[in-house]
Amino acid sequence: MKAAVLVRNSSAENSFEIREVETPKVQDGQVLIKTEGFGLNFADIMARQGSYQDCPPLPAIIGYDVVGEVVEIGSGVDTVKVGDRVTAMTRFGGYAEYAITDYRACAKIAKDYPFGKATALTTQYCTAYYCFEEMMNLYEGDKVLIHAAAGGVGTALVQLAKYRKCEIFGTAGSDAKLAYLKEMGVQHPINYRTHDFAEEVRKIVGDSGIDAIFDPVGGKSVKKGIKLLGSGGRILLFGASDMTGSNVFEKIGTGLGFGIYHPVEFMLSSKAMFGVNMLRIADNRPFVLQRCLDHVVRLVEEGVLDPKEGKVFKIEELAQAHSYLEGRKSMGKVSVLW
Ligand SMILES: NC(=O)c1ccc[n+]([C@@H]2O[C@H](COP(=O)([O-])OP(=O)(O)OC[C@H]3O[C@@H](n4cnc5c(N)ncnc54)[C@H](OP(=O)(O)O)[C@@H]3O)[C@@H](O)[C@H]2O)c1
Repeated sequence: MKAAVLVRNSSAENSFEIREVETPKVQDGQVLIKTEGFGLNFADIMARQGSYQDCPPLPAIIGYDVVGEVVEIGSGVDTVKVGDRVTAMTRFGGYAEYAITDYRACAKIAKDYPFGKATALTTQYCTAYYCFEEMMNLYEGDKVLIHAAAGGVGTALVQLAKYRKCEIFGTAGSDAKLAYLKEMGVQHPINYRTHDFAEEVRKIVGDSGIDAIFDPVGGKSVKKGIKLLGSGGRILLFGASDMTGSNVFEKIGTGLGFGIYHPVEFMLSSKAMFGVNMLRIADNRPFVLQRCLDHVVRLVEEGVLDPKEGKVFKIEELAQAHSYLEGRKSMGKVSVLW
């Protein structure tokens, strides 16, 4: 089979080679998928740059989301069958014509469901679902701040917050993205490049503070966020995109920017900080991932969730796809078709 192999940590143009590699073999509890293509995630940019600690040693086939047809199943798999069209979360290995995955990370989808939306359902929507529904427990009228709200996970979080009738504050870095946020129903879109997001939120919520923050940016944004929380408020950290591409000194600066906290501060002020890494959840609690994926697919079928097809590239355009996501241009999901 063909695979786009990450051969070096370099620019989007110089990092991948299309190579002929062995097709993976199905084990018990696994599913082999002939892929139509794969989805990109921000972690792929970090892996390419060499700043993603979970990335396997190079040369490596990265990639977390595939969509395609089940062509073989291992023993013990009864949730999908050969011939089903599925969306699946892979533990790397996604940038390939065939991919294997645990059956619990795989869900059947309609034959005509758009490819560019289907790739969003696994990593990005499951992450958002787990963070929003399983960790945060939010109610109607709660004030929710979502950073990188126009991105893949951000779009999913906004849709979940809308579903729960929360008041939504969303940050993004361009006018086009702010217009997209407005269109999605974000009441308070904030351009963090032209305005200090914390000041903008404070003007609206005053001293009562905000109830929940979803932060994939890291660094100073976290420190500012904690100050914005009201009593009972919580902040969930699920990324550190502020560390991308920066040199070692800038990385240290971002690291220190998070701030240093004593647990007692959280108890006294009645605030909470959570961390989420879906790889750890997939490793240690695969049934949770399965539950999230099942709920996501059901909510899509019910019309509650509707991923935004950001842009679909061809495999020859993989470098452009990476540059597009890295350059902060994308809204919604970026995918690549074989
Ligand atoms: N913990 C987990 O298990 C998990 C799982 C999935 C994703 N994530 C994290 O969630 C975040 C979003 O992932 P995604 O795949 O949906 O990507 P994405 O949001 O579609 O794209 C990244 C966006 O982040 C924003 N951003 C803010 N600061 C940035 C910076 N310093 N450099 C680059 N971009 C920056 C940019 O939008 P604006 O400039 O408009 O804000 C950019 O478009 C990433 O941090 C990712 O690592 C974590």
